[in-house]
Amino acid sequence: MMISLRLHLRLPLLLYAVLQVAATVRQSREIIITDAVRRIQQDGYNVERHVVTTKDGYVLTLHRIPQLHDLFGTVLRRPVAFLLSGLYASSDVWLLNGREDSLAYLLWNAGYDVWLGNNRGNIYCRNNVWLNTTEREFWNFSWHEMSVYDMPAQIDYILRTSGATQMHFVGISQGGTVFLVLNSMLPQYNAVFKTATLLAPVAYVSNTKSGLAKIIGPILGTRNYVSKMLEGVEMFSTNKFFKKFLSMTCLENEKPLVCITRLWPVVGYDTRFLNKTLLPDLMANFPAGGSVKQLMHYFQGYVSTKFRQYDYGPERNWLHYQQLEPPEYALENVTTPVTIFFSENDYIVAPADIWRLVMRLRNVEAVYRVPWKRWNHFDFICGLGVREYIFDNIVRTMNRYEQRPR
Ligand SMILES: *[C@@H]1O[C@H](CO)[C@@H](O)[C@H](O)[C@H]1NC(C)=O
Ligand SMILES: *[C@@H]1O[C@H](CO)[C@@H](O)[C@H](O)[C@H]1NC(C)=O
Ligand SMILES: *[C@@H]1O[C@H](CO)[C@@H](O)[C@H](O)[C@H]1NC(C)=O
Ligand SMILES: *[C@@H]1O[C@H](CO)[C@@H](O)[C@H](O)[C@H]1NC(C)=O
Repeated sequence: MMISLRLHLRLPLLLYAVLQVAATVRQSREIIITDAVRRIQQDGYNVERHVVTTKDGYVLTLHRIPQLHDLFGTVLRRPVAFLLSGLYASSDVWLLNGREDSLAYLLWNAGYDVWLGNNRGNIYCRNNVWLNTTEREFWNFSWHEMSVYDMPAQIDYILRTSGATQMHFVGISQGGTVFLVLNSMLPQYNAVFKTATLLAPVAYVSNTKSGLAKIIGPILGTRNYVSKMLEGVEMFSTNKFFKKFLSMTCLENEKPLVCITRLWPVVGYDTRFLNKTLLPDLMANFPAGGSVKQLMHYFQGYVSTKFRQYDYGPERNWLHYQQLEPPEYALENVTTPVTIFFSENDYIVAPADIWRLVMRLRNVEAVYRVPWKRWNHFDFICGLGVREYIFDNIVRTMNRYEQRPR
């Protein structure tokens, strides 16, 4: 009796509280932005959108935060920083850590001409001159094609447009993969990079802690009916509706802490360092799209323990590579000075795999292990302290190469 009476009295209060929460949720949903141009403008910076076509017809979007002349508003020639995001992500990840602490803005504030790259298949790159996203052939790519087609197209364009002859590179996760493959396959591009900073780069993956790799890796990482079937298939449906839906379900039905559980199979079960304020934004901008083949190519590395080109099976390998096994990437061809950041606790990129990579690279400038235990893969974007320890460090490294007074 007592209990029911108390409940009775509290009900209006409870209802009021629920309505209040709903109201703030609705408010914060309006802040969610899923377009880099709008986000950069909202954060008070100038932005340019550039479109590049690759040799094999994919149309890519680049975002630029240019340095402008105070008086005339003309674009100034400044050292270029080119940032590339990870698997199933887009240029948005470099803006998600907020107006004060995102790497893209920190670099702009330090005087750099900032370019944010995108690869085929994500929300900004869903066009091809000859192919349609409804065709299987459109989705028949992995990060190998991003490295040998998307990267040269974007880099050549940036150099042409900015008037620079060299640039600094920062890549996270698959962004690092793509950098390594590019310079292994087309070593002439080493000359373009003054520095490269790779955050949790993915090359060798056989020691990963990812449950996803352990469970479906052996199936999708070998040649069989299923993996062949999935060769030309899109990974996520990434239309605006889907993205809206993702962010809305995250806000309306869940607390961010619950919402993050959706990412657990991917990033791991330790998300204590992730800045929870940014979670709704992160969830609204990730995943941003790609192909199943990208994941399968990583799974092949998990099974083979090698960092090598895509395995099509013996007969087709012969057609592609004139050998039965796919060739390994010639990492010794990477001569750019490389700085690597990694974490002991990274669920996806294991320290043992990082060291294996470091042993094969010829010009490693520095390797930093993040000083916090429990630092996970996504924390390299939105972790508490990512700015002080990682981003500021990147800016200092680039400044040193530019020989600027600090
Ligand atoms: C989390 O991000 C928000 C938004 O950028 C920022 O205001 C806040 O300071 C961050 N929290 C911490 C603890 O860094
Ligand atoms: C893409 O393919 C669909 C279905 O095959 C077709 O209806 C549509 O017209 C195509 N679009 C373009 C731009 O070719
Ligand atoms: C994908 O590309 C490979 C290599 O070019 C080719 O052998 C295969 O038939 C293609 N598959 C699909 C579904 O387009
Ligand atoms: C890359 O390195 C391999 C092995 O060191 C070498 O044989 C090859 O010629 C290099 N590739 C290019 C394009 O220079």
